[in-house]
Amino acid sequence: MQTIRNQILLLGSNMSLIVRKTGKFSTFENPAVTHTFSESPRTPPAPSAPPELSELPEKPESHSIDLEQVVLSCLAEKGQIADTWEFSLAAGVDHQNLIGVIKSLMVDNYVRDEALLTSFWALTDEGKEVCCKGSPEIQVFDAVPAGGIAVGELNRLLGDVAKIGMGVCMKNKWLQKKGDLIIKAVQVVVDETRAILNHIAQGNCSASEEDLKNLKKRKLVQQITRKSYRITKGVDFREKRIKKMADLNKSMIGVKEEMPAGTHWSDLSFKAVNLKSMGAPALGGNYHPLLKVRAEFRRILMDLGFEEMPTNRWVESSFWNFDALFQPQSHPARDAHDTFFIKDPSQTILVPENYYDVVKRTHETGGFDSIGYGCNFKRDEAMKNLLRTHTTAISAQMLYNLAETMKKSGQFTPKKYFSIDRVFRNEAMDATHLCEFHQVEGFVADRNLTLGNLIGTIKTFFEKIGITQLRFKPAYNPYTEPSMEIFGYHPELKKWTEIGNSGMFRPEMLRPMGLPEDVRVIAWGLSLERPTMIKYRIENIRDLFGHKADLNKQRNAPIARF
Ligand code: PHE
Repeated sequence: MQTIRNQILLLGSNMSLIVRKTGKFSTFENPAVTHTFSESPRTPPAPSAPPELSELPEKPESHSIDLEQVVLSCLAEKGQIADTWEFSLAAGVDHQNLIGVIKSLMVDNYVRDEALLTSFWALTDEGKEVCCKGSPEIQVFDAVPAGGIAVGELNRLLGDVAKIGMGVCMKNKWLQKKGDLIIKAVQVVVDETRAILNHIAQGNCSASEEDLKNLKKRKLVQQITRKSYRITKGVDFREKRIKKMADLNKSMIGVKEEMPAGTHWSDLSFKAVNLKSMGAPALGGNYHPLLKVRAEFRRILMDLGFEEMPTNRWVESSFWNFDALFQPQSHPARDAHDTFFIKDPSQTILVPENYYDVVKRTHETGGFDSIGYGCNFKRDEAMKNLLRTHTTAISAQMLYNLAETMKKSGQFTPKKYFSIDRVFRNEAMDATHLCEFHQVEGFVADRNLTLGNLIGTIKTFFEKIGITQLRFKPAYNPYTEPSMEIFGYHPELKKWTEIGNSGMFRPEMLRPMGLPEDVRVIAWGLSLERPTMIKYRIENIRDLFGHKADLNKQRNAPIARF
């Protein structure tokens, strides 16, 4: 160890240090460990002399170094790392990485650090240029010919350098004025500025305080302060790091003698518990409003004896979404402006062929007392895949299955079905419309049902969800006749709003499935979002559902019951 004041250390090709700090500093002793970095860290260090810097691998690949083990081995061997900066240079590793490893060791008290502030002088870009080209003053001096030169000409030749160099030349009495010209006052000069800078760059000489002050003023050198650390052994130092366990678990508990060596808790070391830690904030416990309303609707419908339909698929064929519902293939809802068609796979593979034939015939020429659409029914159109535009596509399949079961058993069983699930429509989005939303759908299939049964069922359901004043308005759906829009009175908003759609499925839909003539199906559908928005006073659907909805509302909400 020796004091470092005004000592120049050479640490790399172009880096010179005039260390002017603070206390003690060791000259560069090779801090590298006694074994090469590629060696397994488990191999104990050979008791040989440390290698010279030149013996170290030139650029060891950092990932092949177990830096932590290198640090520990070095400390075991030498008791300290005198300066992490020098150590990182010698080891060919990034200083920041080294500090990271040391910080991690400090957590377990394997090592201790002591900050070192090292100030040194380095050349600025301008200083480096002077090293190459010579100082401005020498450039000016060299540009003056034997017979002298006009100032303007000198400026033209050298630009800014002329102005800077001229002053120094005059001060040094290298040049003098003679009339309008500048002439040389001496014949030979020495470029001391360049010489000093070269020395600083090479790092093998000391510069006087005076010179450094001057060079700094001329912005040719700058003082750099670097923070590094002296590392010594900590109170819990070991040559090999033992991983501390974060948790005590089942596999560490038992009769020690019966357990594999080193697995019993008493053989392990554990991380200290930080009793001051705040811990992760507990999230609030509230369901999303749509889930709450869904749960309530579900319970009501189940109480009313409805079974839930398996709606857990979003992709349907046009056949089930439209054709089976007697929706003509030319219907505007079937174009890409209203429906999201699937590109890949664009076509479905399977439809029940016998049923398909009857559906096709019913569309083209009618049957079951219908005249049909008189159209040319296209298979390509029917087979197109899409994101279902309504859950009625599932209702159709449930009714088809009901008819198939009846064909096998010879007996028709009345059924009540419901579903609450997602549907997709290619719509312009606004405060009340999204491209995807949730539909609540229900139907009852039984013999000789009437419109009165439909109105009664709907009234019962809506009463249970708190809407008691209802009005029905005739409407049109391709698959129901008659059809009714459902309006509910909102006592707070004091207005009638449309809350659903309903009807009796047409014979053109039911009969091709094979359902008996007297089996009627009453059905209705509504969105889940509309009543939820009314209930929770949400004005914009985007605050309720979709990528703009703020999930923190659920996370931060106090736990409350619906
Ligand atoms: N499918 C209709 C819609 O999407 C709802 C509905 C279902 C209407 C059943 C009548 C019968 O709006």
